[in-house]
Amino acid sequence: MSVQFSRIAAGAWRMADWGMTPQARLAWIEACLDLGVTTFDHADIYGAYTAEALFGEALALKPALRDRMQIVSKCGIKLVTPNRPEHRIKSYDTSPEHVIASVDASLKALKTDHLDVLLIHRPDALMNAAELAHCFEHLRATGKVRHFGVSNFTPSQFELLNKRIALVTNQIECSPLYLEPFTDGTLDQAQSLELPPMIWSPLAGGQLFHGTDEASVRVRAVLERLAHEWHSTVTTVACAWLMRHPSRPIPVLGSQRVQAYEEAVSAVNLKMDRETWYEIWSAGAGRSVA
Ligand SMILES: NC(=O)c1ccc[n+]([C@@H]2O[C@H](COP(=O)([O-])OP(=O)(O)OC[C@H]3O[C@@H](n4cnc5c(N)ncnc54)[C@H](OP(=O)(O)O)[C@@H]3O)[C@@H](O)[C@H]2O)c1
Repeated sequence: MSVQFSRIAAGAWRMADWGMTPQARLAWIEACLDLGVTTFDHADIYGAYTAEALFGEALALKPALRDRMQIVSKCGIKLVTPNRPEHRIKSYDTSPEHVIASVDASLKALKTDHLDVLLIHRPDALMNAAELAHCFEHLRATGKVRHFGVSNFTPSQFELLNKRIALVTNQIECSPLYLEPFTDGTLDQAQSLELPPMIWSPLAGGQLFHGTDEASVRVRAVLERLAHEWHSTVTTVACAWLMRHPSRPIPVLGSQRVQAYEEAVSAVNLKMDRETWYEIWSAGAGRSVA
């Protein structure tokens, strides 16, 4: 069975910074689920290897919620942190030993028996596609991981692994302040393979709201004007802009505020015309199309 992502996903990257009690984290999870935001994005390294356990601690207060959500996690980056004193330098590792150990640690921290999707976090120059595909098959056979994908992969890197084992997504950065995926082949490939890309930092990590560089100021002026005209919000307009792409992108928001998800979800009903889409693109690029 293929994976069913929600149209908007929630990311736990910043969860360790939120300073929430387990009850408040549970309330955030439940509010997301009630909005139809059922896909939660994690990585082993978030919060210097602490965020998954924060989520798992909250989930354990109401374990039945697990059946209503899809859990995505990632591995493959080795961070230098006091939590991993054995890491000498920051590096990538997609060896079967590291991937399997990372999945086991994620399952324990998240207090779940399976990941819906495992992503390789960043392209590893030393990735052996055949070996990794074999490792994925093993993880699937043991029931620990149901689907596999990658993140921040170029189209050729994606193809290298996808030839060996069917991937479900490439999670990439994209926003009016990060336009490369529209021209570097990433979204062409997603559309061609009919694999919706997950979009990280869809609100440019908050830069849409408080960025002071020229591009942020230009984009904000357009988004705020449109939000005002449509009785909407900057978040809704930014998500509608991303979701207008025919590859059916899935914005992965990283807000601690439930309202941000409410605003993102309402983007599903906002149909943006082509000129408006290009107006936002042009504000980000700092020029009109050729
Ligand atoms: N695969 C990768 O390499 C990769 C890399 C980075 C992130 N990710 C994933 O993508 C997820 C989202 O990334 P992100 O957190 O950068 O996404 P984002 O949704 O673009 O940015 C979230 C940030 O924007 C702020 N924000 C949202 N609405 C705002 C508003 N109206 N006014 C002011 N600030 C506002 C949030 O603050 P508040 O909480 O106060 O709303 C938060 O600090 C992460 O959690 C992670 O799961 C993946």
